[in-house]
Amino acid sequence: MSDSTPTRDDTLVLLTSHNTTDRSLSHALAVEAVMRHFARHAGEDEDVWGVVGLIHDVDYEQYPDQHCRQAPEILAAHGWPGELIRAVVSHGWGICTDVEPLTRMEKVLYAIDELTGLVAAVALVRPSRSLADLTAKSVRKKWKDKRFAAGVDREVIEKGAAMLGMELSDLITEVIEGMKPVADQIGLAGKAGES
Ligand SMILES: [Fe+2]
Ligand SMILES: [Fe+2]
Repeated sequence: MSDSTPTRDDTLVLLTSHNTTDRSLSHALAVEAVMRHFARHAGEDEDVWGVVGLIHDVDYEQYPDQHCRQAPEILAAHGWPGELIRAVVSHGWGICTDVEPLTRMEKVLYAIDELTGLVAAVALVRPSRSLADLTAKSVRKKWKDKRFAAGVDREVIEKGAAMLGMELSDLITEVIEGMKPVADQIGLAGKAGES
């Protein structure tokens, strides 16, 4: 097994060879961007955190019932370091794996994965359909409405925030900020960006 970090280009090729929907790609790009944002702020290696975010759901489309359990084989076959494979698997802690997030990178991935989905869903129901003017307060308003973005597990996000020692509102604010650089690519740049 190699010790070097896969390049972003190779990671994107691997991701898109296993995932083909726009939804999967947008989610991967959002999680990647947020991981990069958090890495930058923590003085960590942005490229490492970024590729982990980009590839984290690599096995989801093909093996939804074995999510996080097929990923190690796929990634190992492509020379991914064990440390990064562990990080990918740990995002499913308590859901589809028993690998607990331990490193800062793993905890951030765990905390922000579902939250990117909720942030995107809230942005899309706003008049602007944009991340630009979205605040944590707007996201908090939708928090208790369990029918809104029902697939987003609020408890996982709360557990993640606690793991990071962050207030939920601060976590939400940082996720919104982290997603902004890819707003255009993930369809959240507002009405003008719509085709
Ligand atoms: Fe996942
Ligand atoms: Fe995910």
